[in-house]
Amino acid sequence: MDKFVIRGGNPLLGTIRVSGAKNAALPAMAAALLTDEPVILENVPQVRDIETTRKLLASMGAEVELGYGRAQHRTTLCCSRIAAPEASYELVKTMRASTLVLGPLLARCGTARISLPGGCAIGSRPIDLHINGLERLGANITQDHGYVEASARRLKGAEIIFDKITVTGTEDLLMAATLAEGETVMQNCAREPEVADLANLLNKMGALIEGAGTATIRVRGVEKLHGARHRIIPDRIEAATFIIAGALTGGDLNVTGCEPRHLGAVLQKLSEAGVKTACSEDSVRVMGDNPLVAADVVTEEYPGFPTDMQAQYMALATQANGTSIITENIFENRFMHALEMVRMGANIKIEGRRAVVRGKSPLSATAVLASDLRASASLVLAALVADGESIIDRVYHIDRGYEHIEEKLRGVGAQIRRIGEILPKKATAPAVRA
Ligand code: UD1
Repeated sequence: MDKFVIRGGNPLLGTIRVSGAKNAALPAMAAALLTDEPVILENVPQVRDIETTRKLLASMGAEVELGYGRAQHRTTLCCSRIAAPEASYELVKTMRASTLVLGPLLARCGTARISLPGGCAIGSRPIDLHINGLERLGANITQDHGYVEASARRLKGAEIIFDKITVTGTEDLLMAATLAEGETVMQNCAREPEVADLANLLNKMGALIEGAGTATIRVRGVEKLHGARHRIIPDRIEAATFIIAGALTGGDLNVTGCEPRHLGAVLQKLSEAGVKTACSEDSVRVMGDNPLVAADVVTEEYPGFPTDMQAQYMALATQANGTSIITENIFENRFMHALEMVRMGANIKIEGRRAVVRGKSPLSATAVLASDLRASASLVLAALVADGESIIDRVYHIDRGYEHIEEKLRGVGAQIRRIGEILPKKATAPAVRA
């Protein structure tokens, strides 16, 4: 298992480039299941969740070619033949977003068998809203031996009102509705930019979708979708993570290739916390020369402050003067990183869904354990300002969603390196003479 070794104290200076959004690329890859023609995606990040999705689609008989480097992160998917509309537990347990194939498989093949995802480090994360929505579209769904089995001759358009806002639930239903007979109206939808990006791709494939990016989405079902080419939007969470890295280390960092429009709540909160930023059309410059001050955060669905930035914001709050109260509204168990930050010297008290962070606390380097994707990013941030050399274990979590983060950070002056696990030397058996 790889680890990161990080020596804190260097201000980050220069330009750092944002990759394509993992959370937009995953549903886009699943959308390729809706057509027998090739779908070409550009700006797909080279991260482990994409590789997991490649394996998942390949296990069904799809052809997926991931091209990086000179191929400009282009992924070509061809699902002309779907031999087995199934997602096994082996794959779903490593990536919950695998459930995104449920809607498209059902719409295209009339049947799907998907493992239930089970527990998760940040909360219970059920998929009942996906299932209820598909039932509204006329699917027959049963659960057996830990799997969801769905079937429908052809889905039928319906009105779906989500009880709770769900991002992948909205995406799953949106994909299913494109091939349903008649009109589907979905209310209380997730308004995340990744949902709108998926709808853009689906419309290029011949779907008739209006309103994606708002709470109400209308889909007029069509008989068939065709191939398309699409560029994935920039990763707003990666961009925001780098902006916090620049602010925390007192650096001067230009975060390029991003979409500042998608960063509104984060930039507003950082401004309250004393962080100076300047936006251009596709970049954000962060100038970390101001003292940081405490500011409370409440995580919400988009356009509110993203839960996926809560952990990284907490790293910043440990270095702000005053008390910041961070309230996590989306997931019930998303404070594992706080305990690791406390081990580094932070003053954080967890009270149910609230974390009370008292700053500024000097952080001192130690060995810490990453518990999930965004938690690992927050520990990298904390280590960048800690005194001494930190070791972050289980960085496979960060590899799920951040493309070559250590190379990017090294490029702007961070002292960070990746090491493989050093195994104890094998004892050599004494030579035996005959
Ligand atoms: C997506 C993102 C993830 C982000 C999250 C919230 C992807 C691949 N992942 O996850 O990075 O942290 O949105 O912004 O895009 N819920 C139910 N029943 C359901 C579905 C969800 O109760 O059927 C609940 C969840 O437990 C959670 C809340 O709804 O409390 C929001 O979850 P959801 O938006 O579905 O998260 P994901 O789509 O899994």
